[in-house]
Amino acid sequence: MNKIAIIGCGNMGLIYANSFLRYKIVTTTNLLLVEKNESRQLALSALNIGRVVTADNAEIADCNIIILAVKPQDFKELAKSLKQVINPKSIILSIMAGTEISLIQSLLNNQQVVRAMPNLPVEISMGMTAYCTSSKVNINDMMLIENLLSTTGRTLYVKHEQQLNAVTALSGSGPAYFFYFMKHIIEAGVQMGIEEHISVILAKQTMLGAFQLINNGQKSLDEYICSVASKGGTTEAALRTFDENRMNEIIIKALLNAEQRAKELSLK
Ligand SMILES: NC(=O)c1ccc[n+]([C@@H]2O[C@H](COP(=O)([O-])OP(=O)(O)OC[C@H]3O[C@@H](n4cnc5c(N)ncnc54)[C@H](OP(=O)(O)O)[C@@H]3O)[C@@H](O)[C@H]2O)c1
Repeated sequence: MNKIAIIGCGNMGLIYANSFLRYKIVTTTNLLLVEKNESRQLALSALNIGRVVTADNAEIADCNIIILAVKPQDFKELAKSLKQVINPKSIILSIMAGTEISLIQSLLNNQQVVRAMPNLPVEISMGMTAYCTSSKVNINDMMLIENLLSTTGRTLYVKHEQQLNAVTALSGSGPAYFFYFMKHIIEAGVQMGIEEHISVILAKQTMLGAFQLINNGQKSLDEYICSVASKGGTTEAALRTFDENRMNEIIIKALLNAEQRAKELSLK
């Protein structure tokens, strides 16, 4: 039976705790919720989903899986107490953005590290998480971690740690790009005289339908674009505006900038 310590039970830590319990990957008695914030500790205790302890608790040594879900800037301080109690055989799963495997290995003196980049829809089990591992993680442990991550949505292995910067730019930040696009589609609807709540429904269902088509249909993206954009029609008028303003280049440049920022942050 797994015994899991989730270190840092804020937004993400709590999502993982609930997801593991939902899929019975761990029991409440074998789940340690490691949290330093006092008001958060009280709130977690009231939920009754695991035992609430601090990062110097000796029971952490009994956990086969340790999840690091504190903010990256809090990790160095956390490592000082965690290092005293951690079992060198435990597998460490870090979701801290931009914190490299080598830093985790050296500060915790533990070589078996998995680094993952989830995104916000993990909240509703519709997340996209990509992960990579240190060379010391064996295939069984890798599958164990993949099963854990998959309780929050879809999971994908990437071979090279540097690729997590691109993952951060694409799927990590990605939900915000779609929210941004949708926000302005809704705004355009309002400018054309539609009530806002109607515009919201039109935009949401259109996004859902478009996603289902590309996920379940047989055509390529270009073929679907052609299916909507008939010659001389309304879609063509909108797409021409995108092209004239080099929207394609803007989108690619935006993601490359996000990737560059992820690289810079991981060097800090
Ligand atoms: N949110 C996302 O969409 C997302 C996506 C991908 C990755 N991530 C990563 O997920 C991690 C967690 O993000 P979050 O949004 O869940 O942060 P959060 O809500 O701030 O949760 C972190 C929790 O850890 C606590 N903490 C700090 N130091 C600790 C220590 N030494 N021992 C025990 N607990 C400690 C914090 O307490 P205090 O508040 O008192 O500091 C806080 O309650 C981050 O590294 C982030 O990069 C987040």
